[in-house]
Amino acid sequence: MEEAPLFLPNIADGEDKTSPFKNCIRKNYRHLRKWAKRTQSNAFRIYDREINHYPLAIDFYAGRFCVHYFLRRDDDDQPPSALVEEVEDVLSAIFGADPSAIYWRTRFKRAKSEQYQKTGVHQEFFTVLEYGLKFRVNLVDYIDTGLFLDHRETRKMIGELSRGKRVLNLFAYTCSFSVHAAAGGALFTKSVDMSNTYTAWGRENFLLNGLSLENNEIVREDCLKFLDEAIQAREKYDLIIIDPPTISRSKKMDQMFDIQIDYIPLLAKAARLLAEKGTIFFSTNSRKFVFEKSLTETFSIKEISHKTLPQDFHDPKIHRCWTISNLEIKGN
Ligand SMILES: C[S@@+](CC[C@H](N)C(=O)[O-])C[C@H]1O[C@@H](n2cnc3c(N)ncnc32)[C@H](O)[C@@H]1O
Repeated sequence: MEEAPLFLPNIADGEDKTSPFKNCIRKNYRHLRKWAKRTQSNAFRIYDREINHYPLAIDFYAGRFCVHYFLRRDDDDQPPSALVEEVEDVLSAIFGADPSAIYWRTRFKRAKSEQYQKTGVHQEFFTVLEYGLKFRVNLVDYIDTGLFLDHRETRKMIGELSRGKRVLNLFAYTCSFSVHAAAGGALFTKSVDMSNTYTAWGRENFLLNGLSLENNEIVREDCLKFLDEAIQAREKYDLIIIDPPTISRSKKMDQMFDIQIDYIPLLAKAARLLAEKGTIFFSTNSRKFVFEKSLTETFSIKEISHKTLPQDFHDPKIHRCWTISNLEIKGN
């Protein structure tokens, strides 16, 4: 098994009174570094839009940096060059980072059909650590990096709850939830995603952690179709993770997926696969998402977002997360 170095550079403690931006990053990193060393993690957010003139989020990935620029209304689609230069100077001053280790991503509303497609053909993969587990990451070639850092605590929670459990991970992407579940002692995991690229990436993540694919099945399929088949086959799971995209459209699906419309059949079908006392972990990044009130007649729904938001993320709406269980089972 490949050993991934922790790579958390020590930085000098030189406060720079002329740059609140630089001080903010230095302070955040120095604080997070202690936690990161203790927990064997090296992928976390070191700046999250704390200062108004710097509409950025900067993620540290084992010595490389992913800079998300949140476009303002009057921008064209690129960050201003003075800002790019300043960010590069600051990351170089604090971490000695070379510009080639800094990857810019512009956050603007993409056309619906553009989501989750490749952006290039560089194939620059490397490994990061999260609570001692290894994950393949790529900051260049895809719309997302392979590991959504805002769900780090949710993954840890799933890992801790999985011992002896049958775990289903829908919209599994690179299987990061499933890897935590398997490493936490799950009886078996099943990960479902319709993308060839991401199911292959997920397979690599299991193998990277020395986890056998025998007990960790990866299925390339539309989740809604999979659910129908699994209900027919009377499959049962103790934990079901559902963290879907807000919107997705693909040739492999019969129709477009829209979380606010499709969550009801999704939850209704997933609930039929729950074993007695089983729990669904449901999450969305949609800021507009609301549960229909009548669902509380069928399900026990508890919001746990305050427990799943990591310390390095300052936007409380980055995601929301709930546990959902069947009411009739709870009542009996
Ligand atoms: C936002 S990511 C999900 C994040 C993921 N749950 C995680 O833990 O990192 C969206 C994923 O959903 C997959 N996807 C979108 N629509 C799907 C569908 N109808 N059935 C199966 N997978 C789907 C995409 O291929 C992509 O991997």
